[in-house]
Amino acid sequence: MIWPSHGSNPRYLYEAMGLPFPEKFIDFSANINPLGPPSSLKDKWQDFYQEIIVYPDPYASKLRERLANAVKISVDSLLIGNGGAELIALVARMLAGKKVVLVEPTFSEYETTCQANKCEILYHQLEEPDFGLNPTDLRSKLVDADALFLCNPNNPTGIHYPPATIISIIEECEKQNCLVILDEAFYDFLIDYESFIPYINQFSNLMIIRSLTKMFAIPGIRLGYLVARPAIVSELSQLQSHWSTNTIALLAGEVCVQNETFIIQSQEYICNERKRLFDFFKQEEFAVSASKVNFYLLRDPLLKEQFQLFEFLLHQGIIPRHTFNFLGLEGRWLRFAIKSEEENNQLMEVLAKWRTSHH
Ligand SMILES: Cc1ncc(COP(=O)(O)O)c(C=O)c1O
Repeated sequence: MIWPSHGSNPRYLYEAMGLPFPEKFIDFSANINPLGPPSSLKDKWQDFYQEIIVYPDPYASKLRERLANAVKISVDSLLIGNGGAELIALVARMLAGKKVVLVEPTFSEYETTCQANKCEILYHQLEEPDFGLNPTDLRSKLVDADALFLCNPNNPTGIHYPPATIISIIEECEKQNCLVILDEAFYDFLIDYESFIPYINQFSNLMIIRSLTKMFAIPGIRLGYLVARPAIVSELSQLQSHWSTNTIALLAGEVCVQNETFIIQSQEYICNERKRLFDFFKQEEFAVSASKVNFYLLRDPLLKEQFQLFEFLLHQGIIPRHTFNFLGLEGRWLRFAIKSEEENNQLMEVLAKWRTSHH
């Protein structure tokens, strides 16, 4: 079976499974803010239309300035991209043919883009059910490596590695002359996240990738940014195609940046929903990863394989993300986004139904 490589676009999943696409469904497979885009974005939508007849600013000057102010970094340390995905692809191109280390299970795009660029890939496997990261265990893999991709908080587990762990890994990589690509696509879902951006000044081997598509619920627009030393930013920008970030994305970014109130509201909403869900899972004896963000891994410990549960949910129009292309998971877990209260209630209803017939 050929599994879809990402969440969202659930028709491909039903096609792969040979199942009819349900009339009603809830897509838990994409980790997007359940509150939807901020209302300020809708208010401006009409104005954006006027702008589509001109080419986007190829230097994204206005958005870069706003972002640079917001994250307190110089403008030449910032690169805007067509989603975090484009920035990951650019980094992989810069690393073509080099030796990279991936900490698995993690976002599958690191492997896909590194393979496309003929990198030599070394894997460091985290062990279920804790998926904890121990810098000492990772050390031997870093010898002779050119780059390490690290996702924090990690997708698909939702686990946040402590700052001291990350710092010790960056220091070790610096000694080994190894770049660290820290992917913070979900950092803003974490209450009181400690930003690693100030460490760019201390560590020349550090690059940070962020996405605006998750928190601001704009995956259809595509917008992300990368922070690194100016020399790295300049090298990457030469690999980027001209006008890669479109006008609407740039304007939407200007509206979203510095929307602290929206971020705090979203964090609180998700935190409450996560607590409600996790209490239910505990009561019904489902195992979950220790997520601190807007998605989590779940499995029914009474089953060896989760395929039966996966199929049951798809029949009910509940769409989790399969984990067949996450190394070390191979379908033994399912990933769910935290959605609206009503949608989470429906998930719990269906899982309660499952539990009554499988206990
Ligand atoms: C960890 C991680 N990084 C980056 C991305 C890319 O995000 P986008 O291209 O939508 O900004 C994703 C998307 O799912 C992700 O999960």
